[in-house]
Amino acid sequence: MKIFLDTANVEEIKMVKDLGVLDGVTTNPSLIAKEKKDFKKTVAEICEVVKGPVSAEVIALDWETMVKEGRELAEISEHIVVKIPFTKDGLKATSILSGEGIDVNVTLIFSANQALLACKAGAAYISPFAGRLDDIGHDGIDVVAQCQAVVDTYDYDTEVIAASIRSTAHMLQCQEIAVDIATIPYKVIEQMMKHPLTDAGIAQFLADWENAVK
Ligand code: G3P
Repeated sequence: MKIFLDTANVEEIKMVKDLGVLDGVTTNPSLIAKEKKDFKKTVAEICEVVKGPVSAEVIALDWETMVKEGRELAEISEHIVVKIPFTKDGLKATSILSGEGIDVNVTLIFSANQALLACKAGAAYISPFAGRLDDIGHDGIDVVAQCQAVVDTYDYDTEVIAASIRSTAHMLQCQEIAVDIATIPYKVIEQMMKHPLTDAGIAQFLADWENAVK
């Protein structure tokens, strides 16, 4: 499974890159706004660090402006993936941009039907949001699994990004359903690394070592 970091914070990205576990980055307007920095400069800096797929989202809602913004974003770096929300205009923009060879990540997907349409429009990536479905009483990972089944069953050239991942439990479920990619906040990476038995084991080894060499 590929791991993307869901952040626009360059320091977090550098830290995870240095661990050797980073396959890409996803941003969204909320994450970019949190950094209070120039959008395009930030995204360019992220691409320099990651040297892999970096999703940057359009702001427009009409397809003409989505396409214009998407083309501008794609010029920033070969690593840019244009992120487009799932709407009727978003589908049209996806179809045009993917036809031009620009990778598109269709985001804000909440059903397998939306996933199917995004795949057919040529999306390189689709992003079903697990956590936000959980928030309204649905089983988010179940919908992610249904989206993955659409891609696998019909052999679309699209990768599924499990998004809105909030916990280590979500990450275990992502592995169980064999999702292509999970995009996760830095906090979840930190939680994945921790286990009390690892800490206890290290403490025990060190204590035994010190007793033996005394
Ligand atoms: O990748 C999408 C993600 O940023 C949304 O996460 O936790 O705001 O639902 P969340």
